[in-house]
Amino acid sequence: MKSVALLLKSKADPSSVWSTSPTDSVFNAVTLMAQKNVGALLVLEQGAVVGILTERGCVRNMLLGERAPRNTLVREVMSAPVRYVQPHHTNEDCMALMTDKRLRHLPVMQDGKLLGLLSIGDLVKDIISEQNFIIQQLEHYIVGERG
Ligand SMILES: NC(=O)c1ccc[n+]([C@@H]2O[C@H](COP(=O)([O-])OP(=O)(O)OC[C@H]3O[C@@H](n4cnc5c(N)ncnc54)[C@H](O)[C@@H]3O)[C@@H](O)[C@H]2O)c1
Repeated sequence: MKSVALLLKSKADPSSVWSTSPTDSVFNAVTLMAQKNVGALLVLEQGAVVGILTERGCVRNMLLGERAPRNTLVREVMSAPVRYVQPHHTNEDCMALMTDKRLRHLPVMQDGKLLGLLSIGDLVKDIISEQNFIIQQLEHYIVGERG
């Protein structure tokens, strides 16, 4: 199982995290999510993580509350507090936390500093690639035994 530090390194831009502010409108935030093709934005206030805005949170809060995205502030629909992981945690730790708390995105923090963000897709991608590697090794082993 890879560490969170290694998982972050495999992202195209490990330390870049798209974010919004509690006082921005949901319309602006969702526009940014669409532009960057991501399913969540961290909500930062004076550099501190104060919440997370997710596609699921937006859809449920906006539709069920019959709210207008241009007139609703991020802080009204964000989830808080935010669960996070540290660089020494493993893929398995992240999966367990995501499953237990029903999360799809986890910020990576160390000593109060934001280092990056991992999605459930990042974790699943890594697990599939590890499994493919093991399958390849076993195939080589079996072919080697026969050859
Ligand atoms: N989540 C699932 O279980 C799942 C299953 C099958 C398919 N998918 C699809 O796979 C695609 C990827 O899903 P996902 O779970 O990776 O979520 P995602 O779409 O939010 O993340 C896509 C990538 O962007 C990064 N990212 C997300 N938010 C970010 C932010 N604020 N700042 C910086 N980087 C950010 C993630 O780390 C990931 O590498 C989506 O199109 C989704 O519909 C997801």
